[in-house]
Amino acid sequence: MADTNLQAKDHLMRSLLIGAAAAAGCLLATLAPDDSRTAWSVPAAPVDDVQPVEKSMHEFMEYVFQPAYLRLKTAMATAPTDNKGWKAIKADSLVLAESCNLLFGRAPDGGAADWISHAKAAREKGGALYAAGKAKDFTAASTAWKSMLESCNACHKQFEDGKHILQP
Ligand code: HEC
Repeated sequence: MADTNLQAKDHLMRSLLIGAAAAAGCLLATLAPDDSRTAWSVPAAPVDDVQPVEKSMHEFMEYVFQPAYLRLKTAMATAPTDNKGWKAIKADSLVLAESCNLLFGRAPDGGAADWISHAKAAREKGGALYAAGKAKDFTAASTAWKSMLESCNACHKQFEDGKHILQP
């Protein structure tokens, strides 16, 4: 009888110790910097698996580029007064800059080099707008915004006979 009691006590002590160790472990994991997070790598060259979901260039521009452009136009009309305003600029400039990468695979036959250089220019300037949004620098954002639209329009001028000239 006494033996069983001792065993039960021993068991209880061990459970408590394990519990305490686990709690301490959790606490340490919370306090320690999170080194275990995956370091995502970004491929330098296009990956074979990148396939357009929407093959029509018209639909792609209408549903990816146009809504982001229209939202940005509103967001860029006046300097943001709160974090929400900056977030709107960061979000849509990043959408446009990253989407320019998706233009590379859509270059038309004859004119591919020009097409790609317009897409690269729009991507760099979209990236500059995103960086200005991150830095909450509205002067730099305004310059990048206008400059990005010039690159968007340069492609529209050359490949769309001057249709879709976008205003800041
Ligand atoms: C490399 C060329 C290229 C670049 C760069 C480019 N576009 Fe376009 N865009 C096109 C083409 C081609 C069309 C016409 C698609 C069609 O209607 O067939 C178009 C059409 C559009 C339209 C009209 C969509 C509609 O529904 O009529 C908008 C808006 C637009 N682009 C926004 C942008 C914005 C914003 C950027 C810059 C961030 C941009 N585009 C950069 C090639 C480009």
